[in-house]
Amino acid sequence: MSAVLESEASSSSPVAASNDIAIVLLGTGVVGGAFLKLLCTPAGARLRLVGAANSRRQQVEPEQLAARDLRERLKQQGAARDDKILLATLDASRASIKVVIDATASADLATRHTEWLACGYHVVTANKSLAGGQLSGWRALQAARAGGARYGDAATVGAGLPVISTLRRLRDCGDSLLTLEGVFSGSLSYLFNQYDGTRPFSALLRDARKLGYTEPDPRADLSGEDVARKLLILARNAGFALGSDEVVVESLVPEHLRDLSADVFLDRLEELDAPLAARHDEARSRGHVLRFLARLNQRGRARVGLVEVPVTHPAARLYGTDNQFALTTTRYNTQPLVIQGPGAGPEVTAQALLGDVLALG
Ligand SMILES: NC(=O)c1ccc[n+]([C@@H]2O[C@H](COP(=O)([O-])OP(=O)(O)OC[C@H]3O[C@@H](n4cnc5c(N)ncnc54)[C@H](OP(=O)(O)O)[C@@H]3O)[C@@H](O)[C@H]2O)c1
Repeated sequence: MSAVLESEASSSSPVAASNDIAIVLLGTGVVGGAFLKLLCTPAGARLRLVGAANSRRQQVEPEQLAARDLRERLKQQGAARDDKILLATLDASRASIKVVIDATASADLATRHTEWLACGYHVVTANKSLAGGQLSGWRALQAARAGGARYGDAATVGAGLPVISTLRRLRDCGDSLLTLEGVFSGSLSYLFNQYDGTRPFSALLRDARKLGYTEPDPRADLSGEDVARKLLILARNAGFALGSDEVVVESLVPEHLRDLSADVFLDRLEELDAPLAARHDEARSRGHVLRFLARLNQRGRARVGLVEVPVTHPAARLYGTDNQFALTTTRYNTQPLVIQGPGAGPEVTAQALLGDVLALG
């Protein structure tokens, strides 16, 4: 690993360079693994990895952290998880910039973000659970952000497409979001971009799962909850103080399939087909297509769900796993400002994390 290692800096009493960045990485799954790879590139060379953890084990030993197969090793060896030790290692690094990177989906860990910020650690996250969770959590986050530590959240929406940063910039310039609409899920984008009635929805879903576009249990995507969290993050960043219960979410998972084990659900995917085929046929009879859209209107009403759109609609012209965010604002009001591109994937998400870390230096 080409990132400067802790041992090199801490062998004697280290003097922190003004832009010395020490990081602890929480989560070494798909995104965390891609982030570790970025640390081995010149772009990651300024970052000093002083700790890494999965849900059960952690590592702070420099030689172990330097191993190319760190991610694999953590599955077998390492100390038991203990955040205190990781934070103490960040302190011991004496780096001028100390960052906790959250590349997990853990709601428990997310509740600690505000505490870390209050202690002066910067937090960079792909985890949506805090900013896209309860309104009280969002408010606590805003209060914690008022201190000196910064919160890097580019990876939480659009896998790093410049959506949140654009919203903030517009707001800083006195522009206001009027409405927001788009396709915020790579997996749902892929499914409905492909779904033309020639193959059953369940067959496309199996393909998408094999390609790694869905979560292992695709109900996490089909429920719409992840899209709702992204809509909340964007709406809140635009100044709408929306509660998590204020987003109307249409799940694509019928009630009778919601409480089954993942294996049983996967065996019964064909039960999704008939209702979706009926909606597809109805839409087609009007010359429309189906898209899973997130929408926020001017009165702050938020909804995510399946919508019929004309083939001329921007969301009808997406490819692959593209995301799309159409922002109508006070100044972009005749045509929306549209941000579009790959909105999922480990490399681009890890790059968004890296970008947020580098912006601290
Ligand atoms: N994949 C994408 O394309 C993408 C795009 C944008 C955003 N995201 C977001 O990025 C985050 C990570 O996604 P992923 O696809 O990398 O998930 P993943 O492959 O399931 O990896 C999650 C990682 O988090 C670890 N973890 C869970 N609880 C932890 C804890 N308390 N302390 C330390 N580590 C813990 C897991 O450990 P174990 O291995 O021990 O379970 C695993 O290493 C999620 O919030 C996701 O929504 C992902």
